Amino acid sequence: MPKKACAPVRIKINGRWQEFDRERDLTPAMTLSYLLKEVLGLTGIKVSCDEGACGACTIIMDGKAVLSCMMLALQANGHEILTIEGLAKDDPVVEAFAAQSEPGYGTALQCGYCTPGFVMTAKALLADNPAPTLGEVKEALSGNLCRCGCYAAIAQAVLHAAEKVRAGGGR
Ligand code: FES
Ligand code: FES
Repeated sequence: MPKKACAPVRIKINGRWQEFDRERDLTPAMTLSYLLKEVLGLTGIKVSCDEGACGACTIIMDGKAVLSCMMLALQANGHEILTIEGLAKDDPVVEAFAAQSEPGYGTALQCGYCTPGFVMTAKALLADNPAPTLGEVKEALSGNLCRCGCYAAIAQAVLHAAEKVRAGGGR
C-alpha cells in the first residue's frame, strides 16, 4: 500500500501563507525561532537564551505575544505569525521606540538587541489594551530582558506608542 502523503505545514508569515514539506523543510524538533530566523532569514528575531527566559525571540501568533524559541515550528501549522519585519515603517510602536530619548528616562535603544522582542510584546499589549497604565505596561513587559537597562525609557516608549495608537484609531 503506498505511503499516504503528509499534508504540508502551512503558516501565514507576515501576511503570506507559506508551505513547508514535513520531511524536506522541517525536522520534528525544529523550533519556530529557528525556522523563522535561520531558515527564512527573518533576522529581526533574536535568540539569546533559547530557553524562554529573555523575551528576545518574541513574535505575535494569532494576536498574542509568544516566545518563538519555546515552540516547535510544527506547532505553528495553520496559524498566523507576525514578526518585526512585518510591521510598517511608520508603525506607531516602532516610531515611539526610535523617538524615545527623554531626560530622566533616557533612550529606549542602546545596543538594540532586545528591541524587536519588546516591540512585539508591546504590539500585542496595545492591540488588547490601547490605554494601559504604567503598571500594566511593566507587567506586560516583565518577560523581556534588556541587558543595557533601558527599562524606564522602554516603558515610556510604550506609553507614547499607546498615545499614537489611540490617535491613529487603533492602528
Ligand atoms: S531566546 Fe526565546 S526567550 Fe530568550
Ligand atoms: S538596548 Fe541593549 S539589550 Fe536592550
